[in-house]
Amino acid sequence: MTSPTDRTGPGAKLDPGLDALIRSLQRTAPDRVFSAHYNGERLWVKTVARPRLRSSVLMQKVVATVFALPLLRPARNRGGAGGLMDEADALRKVAAAGFPAPPVIACTPDWLVLGDAGEALESKLNSLRDRAPDDCWRLITAASILLGRLHAAGLWHGGAQIRNFSWHGDTPGLLDFEDHQLPGMTLAEKQARDLLLFVYSLTRYDRDATQPRLPAVAAHLLGHATPEVRASIRKLRRRMAWLLALARWLAPHAGRDVRQAAAADAALAAALKD
Ligand SMILES: Nc1ncnc2c1ncn2[C@@H]1O[C@H](COP(=O)(O)OP(=O)(O)O)[C@@H](O)[C@H]1O
Ligand SMILES: [Mg+2]
Repeated sequence: MTSPTDRTGPGAKLDPGLDALIRSLQRTAPDRVFSAHYNGERLWVKTVARPRLRSSVLMQKVVATVFALPLLRPARNRGGAGGLMDEADALRKVAAAGFPAPPVIACTPDWLVLGDAGEALESKLNSLRDRAPDDCWRLITAASILLGRLHAAGLWHGGAQIRNFSWHGDTPGLLDFEDHQLPGMTLAEKQARDLLLFVYSLTRYDRDATQPRLPAVAAHLLGHATPEVRASIRKLRRRMAWLLALARWLAPHAGRDVRQAAAADAALAAALKD
């Protein structure tokens, strides 16, 4: 049997055996992303995404413009075949720079086929969160070191929420580069946005109010960030000061989103020492 090779571009054809397998799995797959076993290997198939709703993209653009904060602009996900190709390009770039990201097996107009990157880190964290918080935060710290290294290499993720990390053996990896295209942002703004998404996504694991863990992770990341990245986050906090003050005021009585925003902001503020 031929092994799958990296074929890209609009006319790309998959290995016929793999093509037939994916077609049959797609008929019953409940999700847009699913795994397939082929030639003794586990592969992952990402099918085309719908572009985001125009109204929500417009709303995000308006917010970014009103606050004059480019880092709040929406990612450009073209959806369709173009979106798959953009993600394949981003994955190849990051892997070529030596970072752990799934190998691109094939990219056709219908599918992006990736090698296995291990378990989703989020499912490990969910199982450790209450039972073994030290282990949970050890894994989170490893992911934050990886994100810091990615930034130090002059790169960014684009969707750096913890749900887009994997865990393989005893090391973290990077998943899901669908939101990698961030037009209209400087490198510092792209990296600052990564840090905001990452820190915000961790608040739900910081369960013990007597021993908060998020501030140390935020301090590590901001301590290793460039002055421009720190300046971008400072600017965001300044421009959104009234909104953040409102979130702090409402936090004790509000829902999870507001409490998480207040907790993430407190960790960032402490890390910036302002
Ligand atoms: N290469 C891969 N290796 C391991 N798991 C993967 C891989 N690609 C996707 N997954 C799993 O599928 C989930 C969804 O994939 P992802 O690329 O994050 O797309 P999306 O979030 O847009 O649905 C991931 O959170 C992960 O659990
Ligand atoms: Mg994802």
